[in-house]
Amino acid sequence: MAKKLLYLSKASLLILIQLLEIQSGSFTNAKRIEFSKSLKDLEESQKGQTVHLEESQKGQTVQGLREVKHYLNKYGYLNYEDSNNFEEDEFDEAMEVAIKAYQTFFHLKVTGKLDIDTTKQMSIPRCGVPDIMNGSLTQPQFSFIPGKPIWPYNKHNLTYAFVSSTGPNVNVHQMKAAGSYAFREWAKISNFTFQLTGDVSNADLILGFHRGDHGDGLPFDGPGGHLAHAFPPTNGRLHYDADENWTVGNTVSPNQIDLRGVSLHEIGHLLGLGHSSNESSIMYPSIKEGQKKRGLSSDDMDGLKSLYSSS
Ligand SMILES: *[C@@H]1O[C@H](CO)[C@@H](O)[C@H](O)[C@H]1NC(C)=O
Ligand SMILES: *[C@@H]1O[C@H](CO)[C@@H](O)[C@H](O)[C@H]1NC(C)=O
Ligand SMILES: *[C@@H]1O[C@H](CO)[C@@H](O)[C@H](O)[C@H]1NC(C)=O
Ligand SMILES: *[C@@H]1O[C@H](CO)[C@@H](O)[C@H](O)[C@H]1NC(C)=O
Ligand SMILES: *[C@@H]1O[C@H](CO)[C@@H](O)[C@H](O)[C@H]1NC(C)=O
Ligand SMILES: [Zn+2]
Ligand SMILES: [Zn+2]
Repeated sequence: MAKKLLYLSKASLLILIQLLEIQSGSFTNAKRIEFSKSLKDLEESQKGQTVHLEESQKGQTVQGLREVKHYLNKYGYLNYEDSNNFEEDEFDEAMEVAIKAYQTFFHLKVTGKLDIDTTKQMSIPRCGVPDIMNGSLTQPQFSFIPGKPIWPYNKHNLTYAFVSSTGPNVNVHQMKAAGSYAFREWAKISNFTFQLTGDVSNADLILGFHRGDHGDGLPFDGPGGHLAHAFPPTNGRLHYDADENWTVGNTVSPNQIDLRGVSLHEIGHLLGLGHSSNESSIMYPSIKEGQKKRGLSSDDMDGLKSLYSSS
C-alpha cells in the first residue's frame, strides 16, 4: 500500500507536538514508553486547556498511532496479519475496523476515529486477557474463552497456592485474605470448592506477583495499563503485576488498585470465563484506579452456569 501523505490539521499537529514532548522526555534511553501511559500523560496535559484533542482518522499519519495498533492487537482487536502497516504510524483501514470493534465492546460512540472518549477508555488500567468480539453486543453479556476450555467434572475441588517471583506492596497475609475472599465468592455460586494448600507442586491453581517480563510472553508494564492476567482451564496460573499500587483494604484510594476486585475477575478466567461487555459484570475488562468491585453480578453467574451446564 502506498504511504499516504503526512496530513496534519492544526489540532492534530498539537497532538503530535504533545506526543513528541512526552516522548522526548521518556525516550532519552531509547526506551519506548507504554502506550497506555503516554495516553494518560496526554490526557493530563490536556486538562484545563481550551483546545480539544482532534480526532485522528483514516488516511492520517500521526506519530504514536503505531502504539495504538499495538494496544489494539494486544487486546484482541487488530490481527497482525490483517494489517501490513502494523509498524507504521498510518491510520489504515484495518485500524479503523479495529477501533470500531473496540468502541462497540466498550459502548462508545462508534466513529472509527481515535476520539477522546476512545483514548480515555484505553488509558484505564485493565486485565491483560484479550477481549473476544462474539455473541450479542446489543445485550452486553459474558463470553467464554475460545474453544470453551473447562475443568472436568471430577476436578471441581481445586487447591491453590501462592508463588511469586517478586515482592508486591502487600504482605503475604493480605494476599491470602484477598484470594480467600475471591474464591469464597465464586464457590458460593458454583459447584467448585477452593482450598489453600502448602503443597505447591500439586496445587491446581498458582497465584503470584511478577514484574515486567516474567517468562510467559505476557510481560507486565509497570504501574497502570496491564494489571493482571490468568490462564484458562486447566492451566491454573494467575499473575498480578507487582508494580501496581495494590490495596486489599475496604477503602481504595484514588491511586490504588483493588486486589480483591481484580482477584475476583482473574478467577473467572481460571474457571473458563472470558470478558463481559457488561460494565456491572466482574468480568468487564477494565477497572479504574480507586474503583472498588465486590461480589459477582448475575451476568457472571449466568456465564458460569451456562459454561458448565452445556458440557
Ligand atoms: C462465536 O460465536 C459463534 C456462534 O455463536 C460460535 O460458533 C463460536 O464458537 C464463537 N467463538 C468464540 C471464540 O467463542
Ligand atoms: C468435592 O467436595 C465436596 C464438598 O466438600 C464433596 O461433596 C465432593 O464429593 C467432592 N468431590 C470430589 C470429586 O472429590
Ligand atoms: C451443581 O451441580 C448440580 C448437580 O450436578 C447441578 O444441577 C447444578 O446446576 C450445579 N450448579 C451450578 C451453579 O453449576
Ligand atoms: C499508593 O497509594 C497510597 C495511598 O493512596 C499512597 O500513599 C502511595 O503514595 C501510593 N504509592 C505509589 C507508589 O503510588
Ligand atoms: C448487565 O447485567 C445486569 C445483570 O448483572 C443486567 O441487569 C443489565 O441489564 C445488563 N446491562 C445491560 C446494558 O444489558
Ligand atoms: Zn480479564
Ligand atoms: Zn504472566
